[in-house]
Amino acid sequence: MNNNIILIGFMGSGKSTVGKTLSSMLDRKLIDIDSEIEKDEKKTVNEIFEENGEGYFRTLETNYLEKLLTKKNKIISTGGGIILKDENVSLLKRIGKVIFLHTDSSQLIEHLKNDSSRPLLKGDNYEQKVKELLESRESKYLNIADIIIQTTGKDINSIANEIISLL
Ligand code: S3P
Repeated sequence: MNNNIILIGFMGSGKSTVGKTLSSMLDRKLIDIDSEIEKDEKKTVNEIFEENGEGYFRTLETNYLEKLLTKKNKIISTGGGIILKDENVSLLKRIGKVIFLHTDSSQLIEHLKNDSSRPLLKGDNYEQKVKELLESRESKYLNIADIIIQTTGKDINSIANEIISLL
C-alpha cells in the first residue's frame, strides 16, 4: 500500500490547513495539488480559469493525479472539484486513502465570504452558488470517501487528531 492520505471536500472546508497540520504532526511531505498546478503553470487558479477555461484546469488536475500514482507516504490536499471526473475518482482510489472533510454549508459560506481566490464563486449570489455546488457534489464526495470527518465547529488540531486516530 502506498500509504498516501488524500484530503477531499468543498472549497473552504480546510483541506489545505488540515493538510499542513497533518504534514507536521506526521512528519510527512504535503502535496497541495492547486499550489503545484499554480507553480507548474506560473499562474494562479483564477488566471488559469480566466485565460484557459475550467476544462483546461480540470485536465491539469487529472494530469497531476497521474503523476501521484508513484508517490508514497504523502499528505495530498486536493481542489474541491477533483471529484467531478470519473477518471479522477478511480485515480484517487489508487493513490491512497481518501478522507472527506464534511462541513456544513453555513460554515463554508462564512469561511468563503471574503475570498476572491475561487473563480467558481465570483460575482453575485455567492451563497446560492455555494449551496447549489455543494448539493450537486456532496454525493460524489461521500461515495468516494474511505473516511468521513465532520469538521463543522471543530478546530484544525482536533480534525487532524481525529484523522490520525482513524488511519
Ligand atoms: C475548485 C476548488 C478550488 C480550485 C478551483 C476549483 C472547485 O480549490 O481547485 O478554484 O471546483 O471546487 P479549493 O477547494 O482548495 O478551494
